[in-house]
Amino acid sequence: MKPSYTHQKFKDQFGKEPEVVIRAPGRINLIGDHIDYLEGRVLPMAINKHIEMAATPNSSGEIKVWSEAAEGPPVIIPLNDLFRDNTEAKWANYISGVVVLMKQKGIETHGFDAVITSTLPQGAGMSSSAALTTATALCMEALAKKKLEPFERALLCQHVEHEFAGVPCGIMDQLAVGMSQQDQALLIDCQSLRVENVTFPDDLDIVVCDSGIQHSLADGEYKRRREECREAMQILKTKSLRYVKIEQLEAEKKQLGETLYHRARHAITEMERVLEFVIALQYSDITKVARLMWDSHFSLKDDFDVSCMELDHLVRIAYDFGRNRGLLGSRMTGGGFGGSTVNLVRSDASHQFITYMKDKYKETTGQDISPFITRPSQGAHDCTPLSARP
Ligand code: GLA
Repeated sequence: MKPSYTHQKFKDQFGKEPEVVIRAPGRINLIGDHIDYLEGRVLPMAINKHIEMAATPNSSGEIKVWSEAAEGPPVIIPLNDLFRDNTEAKWANYISGVVVLMKQKGIETHGFDAVITSTLPQGAGMSSSAALTTATALCMEALAKKKLEPFERALLCQHVEHEFAGVPCGIMDQLAVGMSQQDQALLIDCQSLRVENVTFPDDLDIVVCDSGIQHSLADGEYKRRREECREAMQILKTKSLRYVKIEQLEAEKKQLGETLYHRARHAITEMERVLEFVIALQYSDITKVARLMWDSHFSLKDDFDVSCMELDHLVRIAYDFGRNRGLLGSRMTGGGFGGSTVNLVRSDASHQFITYMKDKYKETTGQDISPFITRPSQGAHDCTPLSARP
């Protein structure tokens, strides 16, 4: 059998066979943004773009990792210097972080050679970092022949973001990347950490439009939103915005002040929208789906202030395409400040929708975009061919 692309790249780079090949997809979020860290429910899904990591142990006391996207020679990560900030190759810090935290779980390495390939755009709001940490964790587990529970692995990867990348993210991305199933969106209750599959309709596609504006969550705005929500919770005397009704929020508007009122209003209304969305999707209530996605976008824009001009424009022109022609709904997805929009489109209209979006965006902004179609895909998994398994 012909080796896969990543398998071949590993052989080219290291002149031997990889012992394991892991595929970890990116994710989009259908609805429920900026509420995972507030104990809300969210509805992400894995997409058909992914990173792959191939690896073999080397017992040299170093991790030698070559990333196709980064070009240049392999990056060397000495196991006795895992806390050094890799300024040239920031992505390598995620690998160091996983290695440090895996050791605490009793999963150790004496070194390995690895190759990373990717079809997943970085900084486009599709969780390339969660894909990288999850792939690294799964590689280490396979090489050590010890397995973590999926929740444990997701929490470990989230911890890496907090400690090694300075991003105080929630748990949505790591669970979506790690636990999604083919053709299913993943309803995550971020309070209990229970997950449930929600069947995605056969006749729909997701079209992802990357605005080309690189989003960065480490720049402080994301953290500030979390802090503002915490302040609002103190004033509202609640452990979670999940327990606050909109009437109560309105009654406390004065005490909260403008900013905190708006931040809390986004969280409270977005938490409701997720549940309504799940039902609307299951009953094919197209009018409702369209309204909920629109409301979610404008709540993120106006109340939470995490959108940007390009995302708003993408959403507006998407709705102009019209429901009659097959657009169900459109909204920004993920952390915001750039990144992508998700568009729910009838499958028989998705190619036409893509052409329309490209033309319309070019005509109105002079910029090119490259939308792509996806359906819910399988979460991170071992894809080592049987013939190559030791
Ligand atoms: C980023 C974070 C997630 C989540 C989203 C917004 O993707 O990593 O935890 O908070 O933003 O929904």
